[in-house]
Amino acid sequence: MAEAFWSRHARRYDRATLALNRNFAAMAREVAERVRDLEVLELAAGTGLVTAELVGTARRVVATDLSEDMLAILRGRLASIGAANAAIQTADATALPFAEGSFDAVVMANLLHLLPDPAAALREAHRVLRPGGLLLAPTFCHGETIAARIVSRSLGLAGFPIRYRFQAAELTALLRSGGFEARLGGVQPGWLPLGMAEGRKG
Ligand SMILES: C[S@@+](CC[C@H](N)C(=O)[O-])C[C@H]1O[C@@H](n2cnc3c(N)ncnc32)[C@H](O)[C@@H]1O
Repeated sequence: MAEAFWSRHARRYDRATLALNRNFAAMAREVAERVRDLEVLELAAGTGLVTAELVGTARRVVATDLSEDMLAILRGRLASIGAANAAIQTADATALPFAEGSFDAVVMANLLHLLPDPAAALREAHRVLRPGGLLLAPTFCHGETIAARIVSRSLGLAGFPIRYRFQAAELTALLRSGGFEARLGGVQPGWLPLGMAEGRKG
């Protein structure tokens, strides 16, 4: 089960992730800039690599994940930087415990490629966003380059629960199928390139 994998690897997550894309920190800063002064729901927040940037710009952040072990690291990270505008909650991105129209922005970094049914998470993001709300979904694109496909195969052999080897251009179609007006805001290069997908609820 996915939750067990992430809990088992929680302590190694940061180092591995930052090695897989040297521009990860730049991605997190870019996402944080886009949510300045907004009320943000973060899905699959993991250890908080992105959350730590969001709390510096957003009005309020609700950081969620399925794995308690990942959230324990996130909790420590936010405590160490003294974030006072964040709440942390266990939640499944495909069945969110929030009412319709609750947030100005939803951030889901590096989630869509892991889910058996990414459309379910997009439906939920769309539901909890206010009209005109912003979805930011920077996503590791395991199918973007030959190097990425090779790295991805090795990760798969090591048990990494990859479901989709996206090319960045495919992400916009996925977001559109979830009801969003979508665009690709560029690709951050790395061993696993990051497709900067974003959507707007009409
Ligand atoms: C690749 S990590 C991304 C973490 C963080 N967003 C980042 O970019 O560093 C994937 C995260 O998705 C979480 N996850 C997997 N399936 C989930 C689901 N259905 N609902 C919520 N979180 C989920 C895992 O627990 C893990 O923390």
